[in-house]
This record gives sequence, structure tokens and C-alpha cells, in this order.
Amino acid sequence: MTMALAENFRMNAGHGDTSYANNSRLQMAVLRKTRPFLEASIKDMFKNSDSNSALLTCLKVADLGCSSGPTASLVISEIVKIFYGICQQQHCKLPEIQAFLNDLPANDFNAIFRSVPAFCDGLKREMGADCYISGVPGSFYDGLFPSNTLQFIHSSYSLHWLSKVPENLENNRRNIYMGKTSPPNVFRAYAEQFKKDFSKFLGLRSQEMMPWGRMLLTFQGRSIADASKDIYYAWEIVKDALLDLVAEGLVKEADVDSFNLPHYVAYEGEVREIIEEEGSFAIDKLESFEIILVAPEDDEKQTRSVNTHTKSTRAVLESLLANHFGDAIMDSLFRRFAENMAVYLQHGQKPKAVSVVISLIKK
Ligand SMILES: C[S@@+](CC[C@H](N)C(=O)[O-])C[C@H]1O[C@@H](n2cnc3c(N)ncnc32)[C@H](O)[C@@H]1O
Repeated sequence: MTMALAENFRMNAGHGDTSYANNSRLQMAVLRKTRPFLEASIKDMFKNSDSNSALLTCLKVADLGCSSGPTASLVISEIVKIFYGICQQQHCKLPEIQAFLNDLPANDFNAIFRSVPAFCDGLKREMGADCYISGVPGSFYDGLFPSNTLQFIHSSYSLHWLSKVPENLENNRRNIYMGKTSPPNVFRAYAEQFKKDFSKFLGLRSQEMMPWGRMLLTFQGRSIADASKDIYYAWEIVKDALLDLVAEGLVKEADVDSFNLPHYVAYEGEVREIIEEEGSFAIDKLESFEIILVAPEDDEKQTRSVNTHTKSTRAVLESLLANHFGDAIMDSLFRRFAENMAVYLQHGQKPKAVSVVISLIKK
């Protein structure tokens, strides 16, 4: 990952109005939706491990790209609950659990660490679980753990972030991503960067996992193979808001031209091909699902969903945008975003989030 991106990119910290912690409803909904995959994967791992295995003494798990909201602790408590259920059924002792929470160094790890003692006490009280939690700052596009360490890796809504902005996007003018008016080379450059990054991620994780290790990955995706026909609406609305500020003289057009998001929504088939070609993991399950983000039937609901969209987009993108365009325009930019989002919804559009979920087994 480029140093500049690793140092500057983070979800909005703390617990305030624009924080990620208070604006991660979509990510919560995604976790609820993938809960059955999590359960099936852990149960299967347990079934296929031999009875003397390390799994029965200490379970080592990692959540990669954990961020600092409620989703980080939810993942760990769900994993513990699933194990607790298995042990109740099998009349075995719940193993100790060592959980590693990873994110980029600029992540608000302090907020996580402050909540750890009470969180672990809760798991002890409810299930008698001995859970040890550590933070692992660093990019998941680099090595994070010693070889042969982990039994289970989880990552939700993080792997659509690339290690860097793809190269050769100079002609992606008046766009900040693979936009409606982007030339074909832009789509190719994004797809190639995703392939490079995701293959590297798989190779690194395979080294860090024990032989029968499992991985559950969920990330934003698209519903059709042709990326130029499934443009991610939210980034178009951010781009339109930026161009509004260009028209008002608050942002330079050249600054929009030179800005591109390090983000990619992959197609299910493309993901399958990369996993098969890279070769470290067997695919247990690979599916896509959609979550409709708003129901714009009446005015009050629409206002609410415009607010929700604006705050959640700001919580995720503000660090990247402020780093390039400066802090001073952030309020105006997201006011524009809200106005443009309202128009988008008035046209009867139903924004949806497509997700790809993959359950993998280390070969
Ligand atoms: C939208 S948040 C998702 C957080 C959490 N997993 C959830 O489901 O709510 C994406 C997270 O991925 C992290 N991230 C992005 N690129 C990363 C990388 N290369 N290494 C580690 N974390 C990364 C971001 O910092 C951010 O906290």
C-alpha cells in the first residue's frame, strides 16, 4: 500500500455525529446478512479438524479492516457465540480465543482499546469465554502475522479498498472513479489493480493461516460483468457535488481531474477467476446479494434516507477528500451531496448495495 494512503485513510473517528461508529448501518446490515455464512464456515472448520487440534485449545482469529465502530466487536462476539454453541452441543470446553483486530495505522484504535476490557468481561460473564484481543495496525496488502498462525480470518466491507489509486488515469477527466463518462482504459486500470491487490492478499493470508484454516470475506461488488454498465451511484453523486463546487469557483477543475478513489466494486465471476488463478484457497461458497438502501415512499422517510446516506458517505470518504481538496470545503461538499442525493431519490431511484461474500478453505 502506498505510504501516503496508509497514513491518511481512515473512517471518521470517535462517536460524534459524523463518526463511522454512528454511521455504519449498511455495514451492520451486511454483517447480519452474512451471519449464516459465518456460522456454516466455523461449524465446517470444527467438523473437519482433528480432535487434538489447536482449535480445541486456542482459537486464533483475525478481523481485517475492523474500523472503530460497533461492527468490530460484533464480529468477535458472533464468532465466540458460534463456538460456544458448538461446544455446548459437543460437550467440550470452550477454547481460549485470541482475536486480532487489524486496520490501517490511522484507524481510531484508541476507541476500540477503551472498549476491550468491558467487552471481554461481558463474554466471560455470558459464555465463560476467555477472550484476548490485540490490535494489529498495518495494511492487509502487507504481511500482518507470522506463518501458520491463524485458524480463521474474517473481513467485511474492506477489501473493495485498493492498495493505491491505479496508474495511468490521466484521461479520467471530470471523474473521480470508473464514472459514466470514463474512457475504457480507466475500467481496465481499476480491474487490473484489483486483481493485483486481491491476489497478493490471498497469497499473504494463505502463509499466515494454519492448513485447514478458513476465511470469510465480504466486500462491495457489482451485479453485472460489464463495469461500464453498473456505475456505482454514490461516487457519481460525490463527483457531481465536486463539479458543482467547480462551477461555483470553490474547487479547481484540475483538482477533480487529478483525484481518483482507490476503490473497486468487483463482479462475482471476476472474483472467482482471481481466486482460482491464485490457487491458495478452495472456494467453499461464493455468492452476491443486494441490500436496498432506502424506501423513498414518503417525504419524511426520504429526508431521513438523504441524511443517512450523506453521513455514512462522509464518515467513509472525508479523510481521502479532505486530504486532496482541503478541510474547508467539506461542509459545502456534503451539503451539495445531500441536495443531489435528494434529486436522485425524487427520480424514484432505489439505491442498492451489492455485496460479494466468499467462504474459502486453505488448500
Ligand atoms: C467501511 S470500513 C468497514 C469496517 C468494518 N469491517 C465493518 O464492517 O464495519 C473499511 C475499513 O477497511 C479499512 N482498510 C482499507 N484498506 C485497508 C488496508 N489495506 N489494510 C487494512 N485495513 C484497510 C479502512 O481503514 C476501514 O476501517
